[in-house]
This record gives sequence, structure tokens and C-alpha cells, in this order.
Amino acid sequence: MNTNNRFLTSTGRVIPWCIYGTAWKKERTANLVVKAIEAGFRGVDTACQPRHYNESQVGDALKRVLGKGIRREEIYLQTKYTAIDGQDPKSVPYTVNASVTEQVNQSVEVSLKNLQTSYIDTLILHSPMRDYEQTLEAWRTMESIVASGQVYQLGISNFYDLALVERLYEDVEVKPVVLQNRFYQETGYDKELREFCSNKGMFYESFWTLTANPHVLSSNAIKAIAQKHGKTAPQIFFRFLNQSRVVFLTGTCDEQHMLEDLSILEFELSEQEMVLIRLVLGLE
Ligand SMILES: NC(=O)c1ccc[n+]([C@@H]2O[C@H](COP(=O)([O-])OP(=O)(O)OC[C@H]3O[C@@H](n4cnc5c(N)ncnc54)[C@H](OP(=O)(O)O)[C@@H]3O)[C@@H](O)[C@H]2O)c1
Repeated sequence: MNTNNRFLTSTGRVIPWCIYGTAWKKERTANLVVKAIEAGFRGVDTACQPRHYNESQVGDALKRVLGKGIRREEIYLQTKYTAIDGQDPKSVPYTVNASVTEQVNQSVEVSLKNLQTSYIDTLILHSPMRDYEQTLEAWRTMESIVASGQVYQLGISNFYDLALVERLYEDVEVKPVVLQNRFYQETGYDKELREFCSNKGMFYESFWTLTANPHVLSSNAIKAIAQKHGKTAPQIFFRFLNQSRVVFLTGTCDEQHMLEDLSILEFELSEQEMVLIRLVLGLE
């Protein structure tokens, strides 16, 4: 990866500029993660949520690539604690009636076992809990796991309310280093939240980036910029995000797309092109 895009979190750790997403891949997860790492991805996103993620196959994939010229420290691994409301009742990975504290502890234990690793780079709270008290309880537990050394950093996901993010940020000891959100029109592309992140040295991670934005990808502006650079519309959109210091997730199952997504640093968008894309998004 290009060293000009060496993103560092507020704790001084490297976060890859794009992250391979492992949702919905079921029994194909291990092979696809191996392919992604072999293609050049150094960031992997998963969750302790069997409903959508096969976390143990992510661990199998890591086992297959580690030792073959790749060290664990070169891979940035993030997983999530998912509250009971986000789990399939038939496959909850922790004791259903346990306290939030116990759920978080059990979830991380399962993740460490699934991932066959002694540490997680970033543990993400998958979404706000039922109420603020529970959110704080989950966070305090996550902080204690950071203190134990099993998790290096913390993050939040599906937090779309700026006031809530500000409140949590103020109240906690270990500050979140990432916010992982759906990047889409309905939230105005989280303009204020992204500003908050950049003011606090947090990274905004986007998902649903392509899926939620067909109108952006098919816009005349993006089409013209793609033609000029000889790139695809997704590559232009990803490069736009990258130049906006957004870490994008891609869960492509297509090896050609993996290479295309990883090769976006080969070209650069001009400030004028950035403005044109911001106009399409309604951000100018
Ligand atoms: N925190 C959360 O609540 C949450 C929710 C959803 C997802 N996520 C994370 O985000 C990851 C990514 O999910 P996503 O929702 O953004 O969708 P995605 O799984 O990345 O799917 C994006 C779609 O875009 C296509 N695609 C990717 N690269 C392309 C390219 N260069 N050119 C053309 N098409 C391309 C893919 O098709 P091909 O396979 O054919 O390339 C796929 O159909 C997930 O795996 C998960 O890790 C997190």
C-alpha cells in the first residue's frame, strides 16, 4: 500500500485506508478473506454476530495466511460486540439473560477464540444499546478489556445522532478511534459526524458505500471523471472517499474488484473533481 496514505489513529496505530468486509459470506468467508489478504488487503472487519458474519472462518483465513510471509502485526483486525437486539435468537454467541457487562466479556472471549488471536486491534460497539445507561455499561466493559491488553482500541458503529456521539465521547475514558456508519443520502452523508471525527482525530469508516449510492455512481459527473482517468465509477467514488480521509469498507467477492479497489491510489482526483463529486452528494 502507498505510504502517503498511512492513516494513524489517535493512539498512534496504523489503520488501513480500506478494509475488507466479511459480512454475508457464510461458508465462503475463509477463502475470500485469504484471497483478499493475498490481493493486498491489510484490514479485516468482522463481528461476533453469527447472523451475518462467520467470524471463526475469518480466524481460519488468518491462520492460513499468517506465517506465510505475513505477520499478525501487519493485519488490522476489527470485530464488534453486537447487542442482543442485533442477534438471531437462534445463534446468540453469549448467555442471553446475562448482564450487558457479562455479554460483552463473553462476546470478546468468543471473538478471540474464533479469530485465533491474542488481541483485537479495534473492538466496535455495533450500535447504540437500548438506552444510554446500557451503552455506557457496554463501553465501560470494553474499556476494561482494553486495560487487559486483549483489545487495543475502541470504536462505534451505527451512531447517527451527533448529540449522542458527543455525549459518549465526553463521558468515556477510552475514546473511540473509529465511527463505522452507512454512508448514504438519508443522513446527508453524516457531514457533521464526519466533521466531529476529523476534529477528534477519529476515522469515519463507510459501509453500504456502493450499494446505497447507485445514483452517485451513475451520475454524469462521476461517469465523466471515470472516463477521464480510465477508471470505473466505484474506483472514482472510493478515491473520493479516500481523499476525504474516509476509510471505506468493501466486501467484494470478485477478485478483479478486489484489485481495482486496492489500486485507487494510482491516480488522484483534482480539487475541482472533488468539488464536482461533493456537489453530486449535496455536500457543497
Ligand atoms: N456496522 C454495520 O452495521 C455494518 C453493516 C453492513 C456492512 N458492514 C461491513 O461493511 C462491509 C461492506 O459491506 P457493504 O454494505 O459496503 O457492501 P459490500 O459487501 O461491499 O457489497 C458491495 C457491492 O459492491 C460490489 N463491488 C465492490 N467493489 C466493486 C467494484 N470495484 N466495482 C463494482 N462493484 C463492486 C460488490 O459486488 P462484487 O462482489 O461482485 O464485487 C457488492 O455487490 C461488510 O462486509 C461488513 O464488514 C457493517
